[in-house]
Amino acid sequence: MRMTETDKIRLLLQKSVPTALSSSWGEAAAGAALAFHRALPAYAETALVPLSALARSLDLGGIYVKDESTRFGLNAFKGLGGSFAIHTILEKTGPKGGCPQTAISPALPEFVTATDGNHGKGVAWAAALFGSKAHVYMPRGSAEARRQAILDAGAAEAVITDLNYDGAVALADRQAKEHGWILVQDTSWDGYEEIPARIVQGYLTLAAEAAAVLDAQGTPPTHVFLQAGVGAMAGGVAAYLRQHYGPSLKVVTVEPEEAACLFTSWQAGDGLPHTVGGHPQTIMAGLNCGTPCGVTWPVLRDQCFGMAAVSDDLTRAGMRRYAHPLGDDRPVVSGESGAVTLGFLMAAASDPVLRRALGLDASSRILLISTEGDTDPEMYRRIVDGPSAP
Ligand SMILES: Cc1ncc(COP(=O)(O)O)c(C=O)c1O
Repeated sequence: MRMTETDKIRLLLQKSVPTALSSSWGEAAAGAALAFHRALPAYAETALVPLSALARSLDLGGIYVKDESTRFGLNAFKGLGGSFAIHTILEKTGPKGGCPQTAISPALPEFVTATDGNHGKGVAWAAALFGSKAHVYMPRGSAEARRQAILDAGAAEAVITDLNYDGAVALADRQAKEHGWILVQDTSWDGYEEIPARIVQGYLTLAAEAAAVLDAQGTPPTHVFLQAGVGAMAGGVAAYLRQHYGPSLKVVTVEPEEAACLFTSWQAGDGLPHTVGGHPQTIMAGLNCGTPCGVTWPVLRDQCFGMAAVSDDLTRAGMRRYAHPLGDDRPVVSGESGAVTLGFLMAAASDPVLRRALGLDASSRILLISTEGDTDPEMYRRIVDGPSAP
């Protein structure tokens, strides 16, 4: 493993290990998730936005951004996972379980989760859609706007706790056991794998949609940069895309430097997931997670070409460039956890050492996922219209 470092980026690189990928994240699984989501009343495919002027200015072949801010009206991609998991759970409870309902049914089980915001909103929305209730616990420092959005999406309660993210997950697990609620958590650990695996399968919809557009255009990606909290989204999307495009696709995860649990685990070199403890500070709330997701960690460990740990400045730069694009490029509303991969790409493509290390050149086509819109609208406006906005 090699380390390359600048003042804003730490980058680990390895030759990816040629291990077999699970069919749980393959074409059939993605097809099932996509068919389920397409049947929902709120479904509309999200756009794949080309940033051609920016690609030219960075001497790259193309940049393609999957804009998840419009997903189900939830301002983030996360509803894909919660809805697919809740559907599969309720499907087992009766003939109408797991289908959209017009009223809350007391006969259905209730759900519980921990979240920085987006996953909880997705769970609250999906529970209400299928006629059930959700209870949501948030880590210390969570934005009030995000808590309110969860209540508006249908949660029975949404509480900002005094715990870090891992602590909030443990609380949700205890509450599930105490009240007989079902834990729908977007990360997994020993003995809690089935529901998280369904959540990851739900995320495959966005990867399958993006691949279909890239294939129709004849622009297969050479690189995909994926932001990661616990790495559930990154692991699922990486596994699908490496099966779809083959092992030459370079996958790089990007995490906040204070909460870089995948990076730290990779660096440890023992093949095991490691926890970053304490109360990490980062504006990337959705990525502020201390422990890798158990079911996707082996995928990322073996399939990644690189893992980066980066400063908050990079996501601010990405947010501003999305909001104020070059030339004829279309603006994208991208929040703190959505824009970091663009900030990373701009910094890496402009730095000769990082550019070479990542194999970026004029023929590279990079796929990015803007995973959220302005989920904290006040912070968003401060950053994109702030003093150093272009
Ligand atoms: C907007 C956004 N992007 C990315 C992620 C990262 O997903 P994961 O925790 O699966 O790595 C999250 C997680 O909450 C998120 O809210």
